[in-house]
Amino acid sequence: MKTYEYNKSHALFERAAQVIPGGIYGHLGVAGGRRYIPASAYPLFAERAEGAYFWDVDGNRFLDYMAAYGPNVLGYNDREVNEAAIKQAAIADCTTLPSSLIVDLAELMVDTVASADWAFFAKNGGDVTTLAVMSARAATGRKKIIFLEGYYHGVAPWAHTDTGPGILEEEVSNNILIPWDDLDALEAVIREHKEDIAGLIATPYYHTVFDSNQLPAKDYWQKVRKLCTDNGIVLIFDDIRCGFRLDMAGSDHYFGIKADLICFCKAIANGWNLSALCGTDALKSAVQSVFYTGSYWMSAVPFAAAIATINKLKRINGVQLMNDIGTRLTSGLSEVAKSHGFNMEASGAPSLFYLHITDDKSMMLQQDWAAECVKRGVFFSHYHNMFTNCAIGDEEIKLSLEVADEAFKAVKVKHPQFI
Ligand SMILES: Cc1ncc(COP(=O)(O)O)c(C=O)c1O
Repeated sequence: MKTYEYNKSHALFERAAQVIPGGIYGHLGVAGGRRYIPASAYPLFAERAEGAYFWDVDGNRFLDYMAAYGPNVLGYNDREVNEAAIKQAAIADCTTLPSSLIVDLAELMVDTVASADWAFFAKNGGDVTTLAVMSARAATGRKKIIFLEGYYHGVAPWAHTDTGPGILEEEVSNNILIPWDDLDALEAVIREHKEDIAGLIATPYYHTVFDSNQLPAKDYWQKVRKLCTDNGIVLIFDDIRCGFRLDMAGSDHYFGIKADLICFCKAIANGWNLSALCGTDALKSAVQSVFYTGSYWMSAVPFAAAIATINKLKRINGVQLMNDIGTRLTSGLSEVAKSHGFNMEASGAPSLFYLHITDDKSMMLQQDWAAECVKRGVFFSHYHNMFTNCAIGDEEIKLSLEVADEAFKAVKVKHPQFI
């Protein structure tokens, strides 16, 4: 199996570094720790995408399990979604007044998401996690926010764990961090700060980076819900990554509770830029009291795309499909690993699987295995959960397992100590 070369990608990066801080930002950038290691194994710029695949600027094709970090839910360039978006683009997109589609989509969100009595739209996930936290503070008149360890809620100053470049101490001084699945710790901080806690923000389960993901203990959310209700704390579900991959009715519904506020983004419009905050009637006036808007937040094209995406996900039972694909893929991968004498564990929900080769605590093996897969055209991550999408079929699973096999052969040569 031939391995890829990335001459154009790397030449383009040289140019990018001259005119863009860091060359590329996010996980591929300096501040994000350049997470794809070894850098030589990875492409840096994409040219086109279709279904489950993207092609880089060197013309290499990748079966993509990162799904643009989540937005690719139906398959890149889904015809139905793009037709709806393009049809709307020909009529109007960014205009002085919102299009009536904003109302259609808000109604659809209310019909779809169990805890939603209303919906507010923005662009990025961080826009709506920020609105959620501001609204919790507006609703309660309190300052403190509880976070669960390993969280990521975006890049706004309030969402940082600690001070860092550009973050003021006072922007994070009201953040309280507690471990996952630790009700004693939650009770203790509530006792200590009873009258000061505005909200608790959390992802539906522990899906951090560089660590196996973990679903919540039985009844965990029911107990958290009760503690929040009893103490006037706004419960915010950050469903930006899991939303519409666990349950169309929301991940709070999936775990048997109703959050007060729930944030959506990635899967909502199949890659067209949109995020949404939904919530209960009790929080509606607090949300409307916050002055909050953006230049493109009422653009009509992403609304058209979101309506088409949600309707299609429901029609084809996308959630079930993506979880079935994840189950087949991860059980196939662990069989392949076993045939080479390795133990590969999948954690998290199957539609958002995290892979861990447990034979090596240093993660070198995992890192090298993922890199060997990428060089052969299957884009896995060694540090982040991955995502299935509805365009992955039998052919893609077969290809993934063949490439995984080749990659294990390659890492065996490089790391004979693990055999
Ligand atoms: C759970 C979670 N919350 C918030 C965000 C921030 O979303 P965005 O990058 O669109 O601002 C992300 C993005 O990866 C996320 O995974």
